[in-house]
Amino acid sequence: MNLKYTNLIEKAIQARENSYSPFSNFKVGAALLTKNGKVYTGCNIEISSFSLTLCAERVAFAKAISEGETQFIAIAISTNKNKIFYPCGACLQFMAEFSKELKVILIGTKTKYEIHNLNKLLPKQFNL
Ligand code: THU
Repeated sequence: MNLKYTNLIEKAIQARENSYSPFSNFKVGAALLTKNGKVYTGCNIEISSFSLTLCAERVAFAKAISEGETQFIAIAISTNKNKIFYPCGACLQFMAEFSKELKVILIGTKTKYEIHNLNKLLPKQFNL
């Protein structure tokens, strides 16, 4: 267990509780750690027009960026299934806009998780 990220992992699991996902019942929680030590959380939000669904990762980033944060260390992501899920491509691209070196912590269970560098998950990205 990497104790450095214990708190972030717990916050991601907690954030999942607020998931609004009546259509998929797939609950996602995310906790984003900034360089100055603050944590912003997010959950997925589904609406009946499915394609307008917001992923947990992007909700966490939107909350942080809109509060003036620009530098990020790590994001922990948790789902209500006991296995590792990788973030969707849209979220990878979105996160890479702000932090190519971000550590992405994928939580299977509280004690089973993977840590990846964002630039390994999305080695090439669209850039203007
Ligand atoms: N979802 C996320 O929150 N993050 C991802 O990276 C992939 C998918 C959500 C969107 C939707 O509410 C549910 O998971 C099933 O796709």
